[in-house]
Amino acid sequence: MLLVLLADGRLHSGQWLAKELAVSRAAVWKGVERLRGLGVPVLALARRGYRLTSPVEMLDAQRIRAAVNPRRLEQLRGLELLFEVDSTNTRLLGMAPPPAGRADACLGELQHAGRGRRGRRWIAPFGAGVALSVAWTFRDGAGALAALSLAVGVAVARALGRAGAQGVALKWPNDIWFEDRKIGGVLIELRAEAGGPAHVVIGVGVNVALTVEARREIEAGGDVVAAVADACGAAPSRNLLVGAILDELLSMLGEFEREGFAAFREAWTALDALGGRPVRVLLADDAVCGRARGVDRDGALLLETENGVRRFVSGEASLRLIEGEN
Ligand code: BTN
Repeated sequence: MLLVLLADGRLHSGQWLAKELAVSRAAVWKGVERLRGLGVPVLALARRGYRLTSPVEMLDAQRIRAAVNPRRLEQLRGLELLFEVDSTNTRLLGMAPPPAGRADACLGELQHAGRGRRGRRWIAPFGAGVALSVAWTFRDGAGALAALSLAVGVAVARALGRAGAQGVALKWPNDIWFEDRKIGGVLIELRAEAGGPAHVVIGVGVNVALTVEARREIEAGGDVVAAVADACGAAPSRNLLVGAILDELLSMLGEFEREGFAAFREAWTALDALGGRPVRVLLADDAVCGRARGVDRDGALLLETENGVRRFVSGEASLRLIEGEN
């Protein structure tokens, strides 16, 4: 495939590309146009050839699997790696769910319609991030799943730590932060049958290494962002990172099913980016200021206000740091 040949970021002549792909040079040009249309930055240098603006480590199922503990790999029923996808969450939600105890994973190299929480878009410029979804079936229904997104945050933070990131923290309910900027987010979608099992799709988006253009594109949405490369000092391998995230998610899912959020509350608290800091909780038609005081046993946010401690659940509230106050 053309992109695989260009991924090294070096200059390749149209003639060489055409020969490798056994197509005409006009077909190479068409392929370049198509990639550009999808947002892949391919430079065309007159009479010299084509190259990407910077090298990209393409996702590779074998390398990802090699980074997952073999015991946990047995839990992984499917690992689908798509070059182009609207949303990896939407893709898995449209497929038959895995049986209890097994997981299906889906990754998108280019995700055009990534979805974030609260109906927002999730922007993942080509080669700059990870867009991963994992489908899982909980035998015992949806009852205890309110805190699942917090446990997912713990799993992702652990994986980033394994990839060499330092200073990663969690912002309630499920943002991954580095130095008070968003490095990643989690979107959990649920299909529960009354009295039956609960099928969840866990979507994880992570900024791995952002070029100036990629950062600008994401920040146009309003958030100031960070990337794993900022927290590691250098960009980690995307394949190793995905392997570590899958490994931690699979381990977390089994433990969460057996023990619930109790097994993760202490770890979440240790990673809490806002504990003890002044925050504003935004509700549908109100806002409450106070000091964040961690989470309770169900993963609800505890807020110390002038009128005592109030509790908020994740579906009803979102949280903002009040900057400039201590
Ligand atoms: C957030 O708003 O912070 C959650 C972002 C979740 C993005 C991920 S990327 C993989 C998966 N597919 C989607 O469409 N969304 C999630």
